[in-house]
Amino acid sequence: EHGLQSPSYPWTHNGIFSSYDHTSIRRGHQVFKQVCAACHSMNLIAYRDLIGVAYTEDEVKEIAAEIEVQDGPNDEGEMFSRPGKPSDYFPAPYANEQAARFSNGGAYPPDLSLICKARHNGQNYVFALLTGYREPPAGVSVREGLYYNPYFPGGAIAMPKVINDGGIEFEDGTPASASQMAKDVVSFLTWAAEPEADERKLIGAKWIFVGCLLLFQVGHYKRWKWAPIK
Ligand code: HEM
Repeated sequence: EHGLQSPSYPWTHNGIFSSYDHTSIRRGHQVFKQVCAACHSMNLIAYRDLIGVAYTEDEVKEIAAEIEVQDGPNDEGEMFSRPGKPSDYFPAPYANEQAARFSNGGAYPPDLSLICKARHNGQNYVFALLTGYREPPAGVSVREGLYYNPYFPGGAIAMPKVINDGGIEFEDGTPASASQMAKDVVSFLTWAAEPEADERKLIGAKWIFVGCLLLFQVGHYKRWKWAPIK
């Protein structure tokens, strides 16, 4: 069964000449870290990927150092733990899928690295899902441990409503309304799924420019070549 079709939101990064909103990606990372990372992994993203995208190199070193990483074996053959480094990948909240399902009533919180590409209508769907929780309509009942959400295929999802007004405090002072947090975390997840989008668009723009020059030259050459015959 399909979920309710999510609206098309006017993402500022949507146009072919539009780049990501990096302040939004930065806030979105804060939402991910403080809310989503409790249940979801993002296995494909390393801290260093955020350098020049959401943070400076020094900021990334500080953020990475907040986690503890199991490493080793060292020269003595022992395992040890150390503070995280920019080259470390985001930590997973659970040891494995069984542990994840056990903690979530049998449901599996998917890895979010590529979620904005993996789901139909990616970024619009995720925004609509996060902000789409409501009371079930009269006559619809939802099983214990599930939550009504018309955007989720089937209408009942094992993820509770986690985005609420004032749920976190943005470090840049932006008021943390539910829609602001949802927008920012989707900006972050869209970037994560397609980090090369800005560069791809820039290269596209350069090719369009070169193409225009070429067209102009070809037109000019044609006029010149045919001039004696006209
Ligand atoms: C599923 C996003 C926080 C538990 C999902 C899905 C997305 C998502 C996109 C996939 C829905 C689908 O399959 O189409 C997020 C985001 C979060 C967040 C962006 C932070 C803002 C959490 C938290 C928990 C959680 C904090 C645990 C308390 C789950 C579970 C599922 C799920 C259990 C599987 C649902 C099912 O299959 O019924 N989430 N999530 N999520 N999430 Fe989250």
